Amino acid sequence: MRDHFNDQIKLSKKILRKKSHNYINNFKKIEKFIKNEIQELEKLKNLSKPIIPDINFSDLNNKNNKIKESVMNRGCIIIRDVFEDKKIISLNKELESYIEDNKYYDDQKKKAGLDKYFSDLKSSKPQIYGLYWSKTQIEIRHAEEMAYVKKWLNNLWNFKNSEYEVFDPNKDLSYADRVRRREPGDNTLGLSPHCDAGSVERWTDTSYQKIYKDIFSGNFENYNPFDAKYRDKTIEFESPAVAHVFRTFQGWTALTEQGPNDGTLQLIPIAKAMAYVLTRALLDDIPEYELCGSKLGRALSVNKEYHSLLLRGLISIPKMKPGDTVWWHPDVIHAVEDKHSGKNYSNVVYVGATPYCKKNLDYTIKQSKKFLEGKSPPDFSAEDYEINYKGRVRLEDLSLLAKKQLALEEWN
Ligand SMILES: [Fe+2]
Repeated sequence: MRDHFNDQIKLSKKILRKKSHNYINNFKKIEKFIKNEIQELEKLKNLSKPIIPDINFSDLNNKNNKIKESVMNRGCIIIRDVFEDKKIISLNKELESYIEDNKYYDDQKKKAGLDKYFSDLKSSKPQIYGLYWSKTQIEIRHAEEMAYVKKWLNNLWNFKNSEYEVFDPNKDLSYADRVRRREPGDNTLGLSPHCDAGSVERWTDTSYQKIYKDIFSGNFENYNPFDAKYRDKTIEFESPAVAHVFRTFQGWTALTEQGPNDGTLQLIPIAKAMAYVLTRALLDDIPEYELCGSKLGRALSVNKEYHSLLLRGLISIPKMKPGDTVWWHPDVIHAVEDKHSGKNYSNVVYVGATPYCKKNLDYTIKQSKKFLEGKSPPDFSAEDYEINYKGRVRLEDLSLLAKKQLALEEWN
């Protein structure tokens, strides 16, 4: 299998190099663009000016074109006060009880080591809980406010083209994901800079090759990271914890207050940064079977050896309060700080935006079976902690919206 993929990498690189007149000059052109972006970020950083687009939930509407433009350049946004602090503080406590009452830690010790997804990244595994169906998660993931936010985000994309409609931005499906709870003082649970949604596939998969066509063919200026065409058609290599859905944005909701140095999220806020990663791997100093450290079935790696220019743009997100949310495009490079130097738990519930399309519906139908049984969703290690957990959300507890988002009720 691996040998077969090595050949495929070699072949893909050969094909991709030929797409532009000169792959070295093509890289240089992209590098120049990225250098300008990085200098701009550094300038703002030195002036302590805000970098990541930041808006309050109550200001989210379709008239604000300035913020839209900014999200499309930066590839990320913070949307604040989606939920009231009081509600989230209580949901955070509820999650704590869910974990303790059901003796999650005892279970985890028994089942540890199943998730190898991040094992090749330099930092060790973060403190992420394999829980999906707690009341806390369901209330956040399936809230009307959350659906409104996701609809707004989905509508930033070109979801329709001359051939087909990629997704319906106004209908929503849900992707059950885990919880992060980071203890103060922890210094072992960071994540190195990476992207999800495929690593090697970004070069070898034919749909990805079409998505990145303008990048490889020397027409970088025409590349639009928000064109959804073919994003629903990529085929990921089978591996635990690799998402088999198309997310317009990955994201999380803060359960606790957390800021820089509290073990929080870091982003390289450049929507087109992937162009640099893709074309860098085609240069002649990279062995023919390699892609600058990216490996099959692992997260796409962004590292000091090959991507030091990009890493200059890595910034920690500003202080988040309970109920604030952060969102980033699937091509946006992100990391989790190595050290939590703060005083309080830094907790988040992961909720991404998975609009209604065939790919997401297929997954959601599989996921709904797991929900009904209280098992881990198909994309994650089958740890199945919650089958007999007290307080797990059942079908009868779900709202109509939640049922639609879980494909347990028809959208119409
Ligand atoms: Fe990630």
